[in-house]
Amino acid sequence: MTSPVKKLISTPCWANYGVVRMSSPLVSMRGLERHYHMASGTVRALDGIDLEVSEGERIILLGPSGSGKTTLLNCISALDSPTAGSYSFDGSPVPNDDSEEMTSFRRENIGYVFQFFNLLQDLTVMENITLIQELAGGRDEARARQLLELVGLSEEVDRFPAEISGGQQQRVAIARSLAKRPRLLLGDELTGNLDSKTSAMVMEVLVKACQSEGITCIFVTHDETLVEYSTRVVRLDSGRIWSDTPVG
Ligand SMILES: Nc1ncnc2c1ncn2[C@@H]1O[C@H](COP(=O)(O)OP(=O)(O)O)[C@@H](O)[C@H]1O
Ligand SMILES: [Mg+2]
Repeated sequence: MTSPVKKLISTPCWANYGVVRMSSPLVSMRGLERHYHMASGTVRALDGIDLEVSEGERIILLGPSGSGKTTLLNCISALDSPTAGSYSFDGSPVPNDDSEEMTSFRRENIGYVFQFFNLLQDLTVMENITLIQELAGGRDEARARQLLELVGLSEEVDRFPAEISGGQQQRVAIARSLAKRPRLLLGDELTGNLDSKTSAMVMEVLVKACQSEGITCIFVTHDETLVEYSTRVVRLDSGRIWSDTPVG
């Protein structure tokens, strides 16, 4: 099924506006496959993925356990290399055979929010953010404060992760993921460790932060209630996309 987003992308813009303008989708995958060769046979974790993601979209990736969600995120972030197919990011092929280049691609373009927050326990909230800035090229406390304000944690800058709640820790992780200004933010079950009320609060903060920073997002979940925070829902099963629909 061709999604309305795909139709939009494939509609020549000069047809509507009389102006020729070429712009690449941020993510463009064609026939992407990832196989695992096991003693018991080949597992086709991804089995022909065609996916285009435009800047500003917020995609929720839904699917049962084992459907290929994490494998797809790993291929999108160049943590993993596809077995077959093509993948371009902003019009350029994504490296898939050289770990240095894959690392640079990831460092320059991808932010990540994890299920278990992964904050450094011996560093304060502020230090968790400024450390990432230093690794990405430059400490900027004013920007770190601005991000912490964006996620509603201005009062907690000098606390340690153990002194704040799980929801607050995930909001620190969101601020941290935005610190290097990624083009694309990925999350794998990022609310999986939170109760439903806290999940809703974290997702609201996340949407606000991504809108304000102009960041494109893809979130994996099996929680259908998170659909309301997305602009598009992609459903996977057996390594294939079986539905791709815009929200609202
Ligand atoms: N490293 C691996 N080695 C072998 N099989 C794997 C590996 N990683 C994932 N798989 C298999 O690929 C399929 C998709 O896995 P995964 O992407 O983790 O699914 P999901 O995140 O939707 O639960 C599953 O059948 C899983 O067992
Ligand atoms: Mg998974």
